[in-house]
Amino acid sequence: MKTIFLCSMAVVLSTSTLFAHESAGKRLFQEYCWGCHHETAMAFGPSFESIANKRSRAEVMAQIADPDATYKSLGYKTNSMPAFSDLNSSELESLTDYIYKFKDKK
Ligand code: HEC
Repeated sequence: MKTIFLCSMAVVLSTSTLFAHESAGKRLFQEYCWGCHHETAMAFGPSFESIANKRSRAEVMAQIADPDATYKSLGYKTNSMPAFSDLNSSELESLTDYIYKFKDKK
């Protein structure tokens, strides 16, 4: 009985951690990115769907932290995106996870 209780506690805890992580990414997106990027539609910048389909996680995180250093290698002539250098690595991971939720599941 005790084992069953401990196991279910572990499941509850791990799913709530996962959920918190995902919604942190969504919150960050709404706070910082939504004015220029939408999830699946082109806005001022490309959609998260198209980004997730063509870029690696490392490229995505580098672009968010310092787009001045990456825009050329991503094929852009100029940079129109502000740097989000204040985000910590866990926030960058959460945002990148959120972007990757829109990757085509083929
Ligand atoms: C002021 C508008 C603006 C904001 C705010 C903004 N972006 Fe961008 N972003 C752009 C534009 C425009 C591009 C396309 C490259 C260019 O023209 O500089 C871009 C490009 C990107 C790319 C690379 C696209 C590619 O081709 O792979 C990523 C990744 C990205 N943005 C993520 C984000 C994330 C995550 C946020 C929020 C933390 C964000 N951006 C906030 C305008 C913005």
